[in-house]
Amino acid sequence: MGCSLIGGLIADGHHPDAITGSEPDSKKAANIAGEYGIQIASDNLQACEDAELIILAIKPQNLLGVVNEIRPSILKTKPLLVSIAAGIQVQSIQKVIGNDYPIVRVMPNTPALIQTGASALYANPDVNADQRTLAEEVMRAVGLTIWLEDESPIDTVTALSGSGPAYFFLVMECMQKAAIELGLSHQHARLLTLETAFGAAKMALESKSDVATLRQQVTSPGGTTEAALDVLIDQGQLESLFFDAMKKAKSRSEELAREFGKF
Ligand SMILES: NC(=O)c1ccc[n+]([C@@H]2O[C@H](COP(=O)([O-])OP(=O)(O)OC[C@H]3O[C@@H](n4cnc5c(N)ncnc54)[C@H](OP(=O)(O)O)[C@@H]3O)[C@@H](O)[C@H]2O)c1
Repeated sequence: MGCSLIGGLIADGHHPDAITGSEPDSKKAANIAGEYGIQIASDNLQACEDAELIILAIKPQNLLGVVNEIRPSILKTKPLLVSIAAGIQVQSIQKVIGNDYPIVRVMPNTPALIQTGASALYANPDVNADQRTLAEEVMRAVGLTIWLEDESPIDTVTALSGSGPAYFFLVMECMQKAAIELGLSHQHARLLTLETAFGAAKMALESKSDVATLRQQVTSPGGTTEAALDVLIDQGQLESLFFDAMKKAKSRSEELAREFGKF
């Protein structure tokens, strides 16, 4: 995710000289510096020197340890902290740094890798208007952004757009497999599946109608689509399956907060 953000920012016109990264594996660090032309600091503390904004693109289990490590540096200049770690609440970060620190928590998703991500942002009350704009600008470099006024819906966002790309990959995987079993070549099944998914998403984004209406519009009574949807909706109970799946993802996000939210 860190590399996606670096790539997105550079593609968006930010100069690589304005970006400093920190990465414990020196081989990986050299590859990142080579690929993006950014500077790599020798350690996390050095990476924070003179920073206006710090993105914490590390795993939830490592987050609070790194926050504690950079604390002496960030308390001097108070750069905006942006955490993209799943599950870790702003108050957990605040407990490590101290109160009144500007923090933005973001839930992005993997299409950020190709600048088509979807991120939800939450800012604590210590984030000023300029910092909000800055955080939004950074995340907009890798896709769509929305602001949440409260932090709590972020677990639902995690279950929807954070984990969502995998749900669509699964649906595409199932459609492709079925098409092959029903007689298409692998190449044709793959191409038609992916283009159909892309076309449907684009059509829904560009249409004024909601997705339920679009679905009804392509479902002629007695036709082929209706025959398939009968199986998916009535027999497969797809709607309740999705509800149960996303409820579980949301609970897991809440659990992560309990597991890794203490330092
Ligand atoms: N991937 C997603 O779809 C997604 C979606 C939403 C949110 N997120 C969140 O984004 C964050 C990053 O996820 P990811 O998939 O990009 O993970 P990742 O590929 O494991 O990247 C984490 C990076 O942090 C580095 N790191 C580990 N310990 C560090 C330390 N002490 N100081 C500095 N850097 C350190 C790792 O280096 P090494 O590899 O050398 O250890 C690695 O380069 C996670 O918190 C995740 O919850 C991810």
